Formats: sequence, structure tokens, C-alpha cells
Amino acid sequence: MKNITNAQWIKSPKLCKECEIRYSKSFEVKKDLVSASLEATALGVYVVDINGERVGDYVLAPGWTAYQKRLQVETYDVTAMLKENNTVSIGVGPGWKGRYFTGTERCAGYFLGVRETALIAALTLDYADGTSEVIYTDGSWTVQLGKFVSTDLYNGYTYDPNFVDEEPMKAIAFPHNNKILLDRQGERVVEHERLPAKEIIITPKGETVIDFGQNLTGYVEFRIKGNKGETAVIHHGEVLDAEGNFYRDNLRAAKAQACFVCDGEEHVCKPDFDFFGFRYIKLENWSDEVKLENFTAIVVHSDIKRTGHFECSSEMLNKLYHNVIWGQKGNYLDVPTDCPQRDERLGWTGDAQVFVKAAAYNFDVERFFLKWLADLRAEQRPWGTIPHVIPDIFDVDENSSAAWADAVTVCPWQMYLSYANKDLIAESLDSMKNYIEYIENSSVDGIWCKSWHFGDWLNLDASDVGKCDVGTNKDLIATAYYIYSSEILIKAMELCGEDASEYKTKREASVVAFRNKFMENGRIKPEYVTQTAATLAVHFGISDNIDETAKQLNELVTECGHLKTGFVGTPYLLHALTDNGYVKTAYDLILREEYPSWLFSVRMGATTIWEHWDSLREDGTMWSTDMNSFNHYAYGAVADWMYGDMAGIKADEKNPAYKHIIFRPYTDSRIDWVKASVETRNGLVKSEWKTENGKTAYTFTVPEGCTATVILPGGEYEVGAGVHNYIV
Ligand code: BGC
Repeated sequence: MKNITNAQWIKSPKLCKECEIRYSKSFEVKKDLVSASLEATALGVYVVDINGERVGDYVLAPGWTAYQKRLQVETYDVTAMLKENNTVSIGVGPGWKGRYFTGTERCAGYFLGVRETALIAALTLDYADGTSEVIYTDGSWTVQLGKFVSTDLYNGYTYDPNFVDEEPMKAIAFPHNNKILLDRQGERVVEHERLPAKEIIITPKGETVIDFGQNLTGYVEFRIKGNKGETAVIHHGEVLDAEGNFYRDNLRAAKAQACFVCDGEEHVCKPDFDFFGFRYIKLENWSDEVKLENFTAIVVHSDIKRTGHFECSSEMLNKLYHNVIWGQKGNYLDVPTDCPQRDERLGWTGDAQVFVKAAAYNFDVERFFLKWLADLRAEQRPWGTIPHVIPDIFDVDENSSAAWADAVTVCPWQMYLSYANKDLIAESLDSMKNYIEYIENSSVDGIWCKSWHFGDWLNLDASDVGKCDVGTNKDLIATAYYIYSSEILIKAMELCGEDASEYKTKREASVVAFRNKFMENGRIKPEYVTQTAATLAVHFGISDNIDETAKQLNELVTECGHLKTGFVGTPYLLHALTDNGYVKTAYDLILREEYPSWLFSVRMGATTIWEHWDSLREDGTMWSTDMNSFNHYAYGAVADWMYGDMAGIKADEKNPAYKHIIFRPYTDSRIDWVKASVETRNGLVKSEWKTENGKTAYTFTVPEGCTATVILPGGEYEVGAGVHNYIV
């Protein structure tokens, strides 16, 4: 940041909770200009125009942070846009700051003491004669209501091309904490793919629906003329119902509408301050002839670079993988969200932590997480609890839920594994310790039993329909997660040269307590047994007889023939099986196409990952109208097994960022070949295998400067850079 901290915050004298407020200022450039840079941010989301031209391609700037403590500033080079006489115009919509989340009286800006949106900016002009001039936001800026006459992230927007606010007023300068300002830390959100409309559907109800063929996050750019004075409406939906009609009940209170006030002239429109989660749109009041070429879906997400690719001989698995990628695109929009469509779209910690490993194979997510984890640390309470959602709009102080709050340990550790980011580990150490100490204070004799938890959210052990958090015993899950998270803390401390012996002692005590309370002879006791319980005892290395517990897990799965796990068990289930010799059972689960399974949704035509195993049922009905997202990446965590166990590409925590790679693929007779690659910080890592006539040919690529351990059925090999072939 250069000059913005000397600017004044400005807001509008016109109070309008869901409007675009346009702030503008005219100025002259009288001397030879060498460079001009604009620093800007807002409480709300903003777009900048200079002389009528859009500045930059940042969408929904400045993104979503813990606004009361941290607000990102973007710097734009605007040298080429300036003339002698100029006007800078900045439109600000409420965005995340102004949105009231369902079930809470709070919006993301609740704690700020600024009721409406606000802006701060500084335009620095550097002249050839060595002098500089800075145009700051202050009370001289003009304020008008903008053409987005209403805008709200859940409800959508109304655009009126002919709206002109006839009463320009002067902005109100007001004091606000400039210490919250920081240079942008995360990735910018930008437009990505442009998907053409695929099909016009006239539904049994007679609705005009357009299908884009892919569930996505972003918005529609549409061409419209319409009848003067009429308001045309676009409704957004993810699926059609059992009869083939447009369906939007699962969006709950989010109206998710794009409205356009027609003037009889042709316009091309897309929103400045909104996004939607959708595959289908329904047109209402559309007097133009409906033509596919007039509608384009624009995919919007954080500008994360794709790093991972996976392909195999099963078209169904390839589709599942495709759905995981689209789930990540749709939910990595500035913060890692649970879902992008309904009246939620929050930075749920549990969802973020179960998916982070898969996420870091698919895309380079380091910078994306640096920002979000800084918000997580900023939102942590002094007594160690981590809010359920980051940024925190629930303001639940007293409690952290196991598997959700553990994002504080799991996510930084994944950044270390994937990108060798040791600085982040050092920065996170205090927050990890604080959280672990909160758990210890909420435990009795090594069992974490004094907090409320989400449990194995949405699992299938719950006999009560609609009870999402029952099933596996919550103290069991919580204690297992304590053991896992404190192990990460211990590794993190040792990495930073700190003595972790105290934490080790407490962890060991908890391991013993877990075994005594929940296990007997290496097996989960009958009163506690579930697939998730056994999975955690195996995968987190808690059992004193992993072979026996893994055997029990295998029995549990084979006896019932399918998975029953929810948010907590699902990410580790296949790992716990393959790591312990039950490769066929793991493949049985991943290849199963009947409900419940990953491929069931694929067979039902999913193009993203569903929230529930039965979001949509065989007969086309929905499990519920409530809490039923069709773009929820949590179960997409299975992609980390596809990269890590099918293709066998694993990072090594002793030598992270794939400086040393572990190749250990697991084959299955139902899959003929697998190809995967990860563009790592140390170069391109590849693994391929192909089975023919009973023999499997493996090819591993180790980038320059890296080494690898190859583990195959017949042997183990230490190799250096290059391409390595084996036939087994
Ligand atoms: C969200 C989840 C989240 C959960 C908490 C839901 O409403 O969509 O994904 O983790 O609440 O259990």
C-alpha cells in the first residue's frame, strides 16, 4: 500500500441497504504522466470505471475477510486509461458485508459500526517532472444511486439501464479504522470459462428453461431487448424436479433472481455485485424470442491455477473426477464455501478441512488458503475456540466442533505438505496450541466430552431421518480428532524447533483413554461400532492393533455392502482400507453405482458433488427441500484417494512439496489404466499404469532435482529424476 491509508472513508448520505452506490470524482491530468495507480477497497464489493471503462478484471473485489480486522486493498495500474479530463467512478454494492445470513441477525459487516457500504481509495499520479499528486476519497466525491437498483448476494439483482439518480449529493467522510487495511493476500476472483447455453426446455408446466449442461457458480450474460417498462426475470436452479419442471426450493430463502428493466433497446447484461449457483435458468416475462446464443454462463471463481489431472479407463470415475473439479471451482470463490447457491455460501471450516488435500492436488491453493487461514486466526477466540464458519458471522464463542475447528491444524499442514510453506506453520503455531489447549480444557481424562459437535454429519448410521449429527458417538469422533490435531501440532512444533514433549504426553494419555473407552481387543466396542469409528481409529493410527481394526472395518463394509459414512468418515474410508490390504473393498466402494455411493450421483446425471448421498433419488424425488445442495464438495475429498492411491502420487512430509515423492499405486482388475499428474513447485510429477494380459506396466516421472520411493507389489526402489518404468 502506498497512499490509501491517508485517504478518508466515505459513505453515502442516501441510505439504501440493497443498492449500488456510485461514488465519482472528476480530475485533470495537466502534466506529463509517467504512471498512475489506483488503490481501492470497500466495505461491500466494488467495481471501478475510469472514463466509462472498467478497470481490471477483479470480480467481487475486495473479497470476503474478517472485515472488522482485515480488509484487502487492490492496486490497479491505470496509467494507460487517463486523458486530460477524467472521471473515476466506483460502484459499491453490499456484497458479503451487507448480506444478512439466514438464521442469524448478523451480516458480515455486523461488527463494524458502518451501517451501509463505504469506500476508501487513493489515485496516485506520478509525473515526468518527478512530482506526484494523490487524489484521495474525501467529502468532495459525488454520490449517486447506480443502475443496479437492487443487489443482494442471496436474492440477486435488478438492473435498470435507464435509471439515473437525479439528485447527486456529496459523500460523507467519516472516521474508520485504517489499520484494517492490507495489501491483497488471497487470489483475485475473476471470470473463467464462458459456457454456451445448451438447450431450451419447455417444461411440463410450460416454463421456458435453459440448460447450460453444467452446474456452476457465476452468472449469466444475456442479450435482451424486451418490451419497454417490463421487467424480465431470470431464476436460477441446479436441477429439474421429478416431472422435469424447474426446481429451486433447495435454494431456500435465497431468491437468486436476475431482473432486467427493459427499455425496448437491445442490451447485454451481467451483474457487477452478485453470483449464483446454477445449471438451469428459468425465464419469466421474456418477450424476446428465446435464442440459445443470447445466453452465456460465465464461471467465476478465485484465480487458482489448475495443477492436477486424473484420468482412468472408467468413464464413470472420470465423470466423478470432473464433478470434483467443478465442485472446487464452484466453492473456491474467495473463501472455501460449503455451497454456492442457497442462503448459506459460508466458509464452513469442516468442509474446507476435509477437502483441502484433494484441493491441493487439483489446483495451486496456497495463496487462497494463506488469506483464509489468516482470517481463521483472526477470528479465533482468545480461549482457543475456532468459529464454525470463517469469516465468522455466527459469533458462537463458547464452542468448537471437532472436525470443523480442526481446519486450524489440518489446512496449514496441507500447505506445508504440498508447498513446503514453513512460514505458515510458524505463523499458525500459536493458534494451533491455543485450540489444542481449548480441547484439553474441554476434556475429562483424555476424552474430549464437553463441547457440542456436528458429529459425522449426514452419515447413514443415523436411524432418525433428518437428524444429521447422530450416528457415530461424538466423544469418539472428538477424541480421535484431538489425537489427530495434536499430532499435527507436535510435528509443526518440531519443525519449528520447539519442544513438544508436554503435548506428546497429553496426546499419549488420550490415545490410551480412547482405546480403553471405545475399543476392546483391537476392535471398536459393539456399542460404539460404525464404519466411521473404525476408520478414524485406523487412519489416525489410534488403535493398538491396526490390523484387527482394519479387519473390523472391512467386515463392516462388506457385510452391509456399501458405505455409511458422513463428512467425518468419508474422506478417510478408502485410505483406511487400502493402507491395510483391503484394496478390493475400496475399489468395490468407489466403483459401486447403486445408492449409496459416489457413482450413484454420477449415474443420476450429477455434474458436481452432492451434499447428500441421496440428494436426488432414483425416482427423481429429492431427499428434502431443506439443506440439499447439488454443489457441495465435501464428499469430493475422495479425489485425494484417486490421486494418492489409484495413481499412487503422494507427498512426503519429511521432504515436502514433492521434493521427495512416494509412488504407491493400488491396481484393481476392473480398471485397465490410470494416468495422473501434478504440477508441483518442483516440476511435473506423473504416474501412469496399464494392465494387459495379467501384467501391469508402470511409468513414473520424477522432476529434475527430486527423488522418489517407488513401492510396487514386488519391491521398493529409490530413484532420482527421470522417467522410470516397471512391469509387474
Ligand atoms: C453446511 C455444511 C456444514 C454444516 C455444519 C451445513 O448447513 O452446508 O456443509 O458443514 O452445515 O454441519
